[in-house]
Amino acid sequence: MTPHRKKLIEVALPLEAINRESAREKSIRHGHPSTLHLWWARRPLAACRAVLFASLVDDPDSDPHFRRADGSVDEDRAGVRRAELFSIMEALVKWENSNNEKVLNQARAEIAASIASAKVYDSKEWSKQQTICGEPAWNFICRLAKPAAVNQFLVKYAPPVHDPFCGGGSIPLEAQRLGLRAFGSDLNPVPVLITKALIEIPPKFANMPPVNPESNARLKDGWTGAQGLAEDVRYYGQWMRNEAEKRIGHLYPKVKITEEMVAGSAGVPPVKT
Ligand SMILES: C[S@@+](CC[C@H](N)C(=O)[O-])C[C@H]1O[C@@H](n2cnc3c(N)ncnc32)[C@H](O)[C@@H]1O
Repeated sequence: MTPHRKKLIEVALPLEAINRESAREKSIRHGHPSTLHLWWARRPLAACRAVLFASLVDDPDSDPHFRRADGSVDEDRAGVRRAELFSIMEALVKWENSNNEKVLNQARAEIAASIASAKVYDSKEWSKQQTICGEPAWNFICRLAKPAAVNQFLVKYAPPVHDPFCGGGSIPLEAQRLGLRAFGSDLNPVPVLITKALIEIPPKFANMPPVNPESNARLKDGWTGAQGLAEDVRYYGQWMRNEAEKRIGHLYPKVKITEEMVAGSAGVPPVKT
C-alpha cells in the first residue's frame, strides 16, 4: 500500500502571517476581486492561497529526504525545512506578491516537488531519470526544473481543484494562481458570473494585446497576462460611461450637497438642485 504522506496543513501552519494578511485584505480597495462585485461570504485570498499550498506540499516528516538510514525522521533537518516552507508561505500570502512570479514560481516548484517525490519514491511509477514534461523527474524533486516545465507538470499531474460552493471565487482563483486546474460551481448565478469573470474569461485573453484603438496606438513590446484585457475593460468602461452621460445625463441633474443634508442623518434631507 502507498504510504500516507502527511501534508504540511496536517502538521503546522504559519497562522500569524496568514491571519494578518487575511485581515489586511479587507482594507484593499484597488485590484481586489471584491471591487469587481460584492460577494458577502467571500473568503480572504491569503487564507485560500495558504490552505491550497499547504494541502499539496508534504510535511518534511513525510519526505524521504529527511529520513535517516534506519528509516527514522531526522527531526533537526525536518524542522529546518519546515521553517523554510513557512518562510515561503509568509511571502506567498502577502497581497503585494499576488502577481510576483518569483514568489509564485517558488510555491509552484514546491508543489511539483511533493508530487514528483511521491511518484518516484512511493509509487515507483517514475524513475529519477525519467523525462517528465521535458525534464528528468529528479529536477522536479530538487526544484531545478524551469518554471515553464513546472507549470506544464502541475496542469498534468497536480490534482485539480473544484469548489462546488464557489461564492466569490476565492478558492478557484487561488488554485489557478498556483498553476492548478481550477473549477467552480454554485447554485446562485451571481457567484457563477463573478467566478467566470475571475477564472474563465481572463485566461482566454492571456498575453493578448488590447483591441481598442488608443491602447493599440501606443503598442508596447508585449502584453503579458491579463494586461491587454484590463486595458480594454478600462477603455470601453469609460466609453460606456461617457455615452450614458451624453444620452441620459440630463435626467440626473447635479445636486448641491448642503450642510443640512450632511447633518440630516435621521430624516430625508431636502434636495436642492
Ligand atoms: C460561504 S459561500 C462560499 C464562499 C466561497 N467558497 C468563497 O471562497 O468565496 C457559500 C456558497 O454556497 C452556495 N450554495 C449554497 N447551497 C448550495 C447548493 N446546494 N449547491 C451549490 N451551491 C450552493 C451559495 O450560493 C454561496 O455562494
